[in-house]
This record gives sequence, C-alpha cells and structure tokens, in this order.
Amino acid sequence: MIPSMPLSKLLALSFSIILIVLASASLAVAGAEPPDFSNQNCLSCHAEVGQFTSASVHSDFSCLACHPNISSEHLLGYREGREKPMVSLISPQNVPETCGACHAEELESYNESVHGRGLLLGSIETANCIDCHGSHNVLERSDPQATYSAIRLPQTCAKCHEGEAQDNFIKGVEHGSLAAGTGLAEHNTLKFFVWLTILTVAGMIVHMEIELYHLLKQARSRKN
Ligand code: HEC
Ligand code: HEC
Ligand code: HEC
Ligand code: HEC
Ligand code: HEC
Repeated sequence: MIPSMPLSKLLALSFSIILIVLASASLAVAGAEPPDFSNQNCLSCHAEVGQFTSASVHSDFSCLACHPNISSEHLLGYREGREKPMVSLISPQNVPETCGACHAEELESYNESVHGRGLLLGSIETANCIDCHGSHNVLERSDPQATYSAIRLPQTCAKCHEGEAQDNFIKGVEHGSLAAGTGLAEHNTLKFFVWLTILTVAGMIVHMEIELYHLLKQARSRKN
C-alpha cells in the first residue's frame, strides 16, 4: 500500500533519489583508473620489445600505431584463450594493410609485386613488409644495419631465395610503381586482364540467370 503523499513531496523525493544515484555513479567512474595505453605500460609486460623499438624509425610512435586493436582487458593481464581471440593485425596476411595505413604508395607497389600477388593468392611463405624491413627494428635505408640496405639486401632475399642469382635478384626494385615508371604497358596489361576476368565472370552469371528465368517460364506455361 502506498502512503498518501502530497505530489510536491513525492516529486522532491524522486528528485533526490535521482541525484544520489547520479552522484554515486560519477564517484564510481572517478574511482576507476582509466586504462593506460601508454608505451611505458605496454613495455612493463613486453620489455623485450623495447630494446628494438628504441633504434627504429618509428621509435617515437605509440605502440597502438601498429597494434590499434589492443583492448583494455588486455592491459589487465591478457591470457591466451581467456580473452576473445583478437583479430591479429600482425599476421602475415594482414601486415601489409597495417603498415600500409601510413605507407599507401609502398602498399600499392607491393600489391603489384610478385610477393604481393602471392600473398593475395594465399601464400604465407611469400615475403611481406616485415620479412624485408623488420617490425620493431625498421631502420633507415642508409643505415648499413638495415635489412633492406644495399649491403644487407642480398642476405635478406637469400633467407628465402638461397642459391639463386643474387646479383640480378637485388637489382629488381621492390617498390617500382608500374603505373608511374617504364612499366606503364605492364600496368595497363594487368588492369586489362583483371577487368576482362571480372566482366567475363559477371557476364556468365547474368547469362545463367537469364537461362534459369526462361526455364522457369517454360516449366510454368507447360503446367498451365
Ligand atoms: C599486464 C600485462 C600486459 C600489458 C600491460 C600489455 N600486454 Fe600485450 N600481451 C600480454 C600477454 C600475457 C600476451 C600473450 C602472450 C602470449 O600469448 O604469448 C600479450 C600479447 C600481445 C601481443 C601479441 C598478440 C598476437 O596477436 O599474437 C601484442 C601485439 C601485444 N600484446 C601488444 C601490447 C600493447 C601494444 C600493449 C600496450 C597498449 C600491451 N600489449 C600491454 C600482456 C600484456
Ligand atoms: C611500426 C609498427 C609497429 C610498432 C610501432 C610496434 N609494433 Fe609490435 N609488432 C609489429 C609487427 C609487424 C609485429 C609482428 C612481428 C612478427 O610477426 O614477427 C609485432 C609484434 C608484436 C608483439 C608480439 C610478437 C613478439 O614480438 O613477441 C608484441 C608483444 C608487440 N609487437 C608489442 C609492441 C609494443 C609494446 C610496442 C610499443 C613499444 C610495439 N609493439 C610497437 C609492429 C609494430
Ligand atoms: C602510424 C603510421 C605508420 C605506420 C603504421 C608504419 N609506419 Fe613506417 N614510417 C612512418 C613515418 C612517419 C616514417 C618516417 C618517414 C620519414 O622519416 O621520411 C616511417 C618510416 C619508415 C621506413 C623508412 C623510410 C625512410 O625514408 O627511411 C620504413 C622502411 C617503414 N617506415 C616501414 C614500415 C613498416 C614495415 C611498417 C609496418 C610494420 C610501418 N612502416 C608502419 C609511419 C608509419
Ligand atoms: C619470406 C621469404 C621471401 C623473402 C625474404 C623474399 N622472397 Fe622473393 N619470393 C618468395 C616466394 C615464396 C616466391 C614465390 C612466389 C610467391 O609465392 O609469392 C618469391 C618470388 C620472387 C620472385 C619471382 C621469381 C621467382 O623466383 O619465383 C622474385 C624476382 C623475387 N621473389 C625476388 C625477391 C627479392 C629481390 C627479395 C629481396 C629483396 C626477395 N624476393 C625476398 C619468398 C621470399
Ligand atoms: C621483398 C622485399 C620487400 C618487401 C616485401 C617490402 N619492401 Fe619496402 N623496400 C624494399 C626495398 C629493397 C626498398 C628500397 C628500394 C626501393 O624503394 O625499392 C624498400 C623501400 C621501402 C620504403 C621507403 C624507404 C626509403 O628509404 O625510401 C618504405 C616506406 C617501405 N619500403 C615500406 C614497405 C611496406 C609498407 C611494405 C609492405 C606493404 C614493404 N615495404 C614491402 C623491400 C621490400
């Protein structure tokens, strides 16, 4: 049974209840530490990564530049299997997009290269960005220690191309843009065949649909 109460008192009571709820909610929010996505915090668990990142061209970057999918639960002590498996942005298939977010031109030329096309076809033995450049230790090309410096490049290619004609191999420019350079003919040929394939498949589907439609129509008129 509700005791009878003047409307003004009822309003005042409900208003103060709302105030109390709001106040305690804001206290709870203020009390909880906001998740700390700083590099320092990442390195408190991933110390081994630090010694590499410090020399890299990306040294003053946030770890999140390449690992944008780290969740706040991860910071509380991620264990494999406990957290939902995160979509790996650093698997061989996804590295080019992750690096390419900032290196769009190199991504495009990579996608046109033998390796890039190998990757698109599902090869994981093929070279992606980090096989030639490293991940946490990307150095400037002029640095002789860089995996893609003129001096070390033969070694880098030889990881996968041992015994092949090294000198000729490394003359090939990995990021030669077909569209911009002397390769315009190749570029257009590639584009031509890609579109030819798309149009042929699309045409086949349309053709099949029309045939199906006629078959259905025939079947229906036979029934009538
Ligand atoms: C409380 C400790 C802790 C903190 C803080 C932490 N991590 Fe982790 N992280 C882990 C653990 C544990 C694993 C799982 C290692 C394993 O399974 O071998 C992991 C795995 C990873 C992986 C590999 C995931 C994969 O796809 O294989 C990446 C990348 C990573 N952490 C990046 C970060 C970044 C970036 C930060 C900061 C924003 C961070 N971590 C903060 C504990 C932590
Ligand atoms: C320029 C991009 C880039 C930046 C910046 C970067 N990472 Fe990574 N990270 C990668 C890539 C690519 C891989 C995958 C390496 C592999 O598969 O060999 C990786 C792998 C990892 C892994 C899991 C594999 C391992 O080596 O144990 C951890 C943990 C990690 N990174 C932590 C960090 C932390 C902490 C920072 C910041 C200090 C950071 N990363 C900054 C690109 C980056
Ligand atoms: C958040 C943006 C960003 C991401 C992600 C990123 N980079 Fe970079 N990268 C840069 C910037 C900015 C520079 C410095 C450019 C300069 O100094 O001219 C750089 C420099 C480089 C250089 C040296 C270029 C030079 O002129 O010396 C290489 C090689 C490179 N990155 C490769 C990678 C690879 C491989 C990855 C992925 C593992 C990656 N980058 C991810 C922004 C990024
Ligand atoms: C991580 C392994 C790996 C690295 C490192 C690598 N390649 Fe490759 N490369 C492959 C694979 C695998 C193929 C076969 C095609 C495919 O699957 O993409 C290939 C194919 C090629 C081809 C086409 C001809 C052939 O032999 O099939 C050339 C040219 C080539 N690579 C040059 C290079 C050069 C130059 C470097 C160094 C700058 C290099 N590769 C580094 C794995 C690699
Ligand atoms: C097979 C080896 C190989 C792969 C795979 C590769 N690169 Fe490169 N990259 C090189 C070489 C060699 C150079 C220097 C000569 C040139 O520009 O072709 C270079 C140059 C660069 C530069 C410019 C550095 C400078 O000094 O101007 C950037 C940035 C870069 N690569 C990013 C990437 C990214 C991002 C990917 C993946 C999408 C990638 N690379 C894949 C070998 C590779």
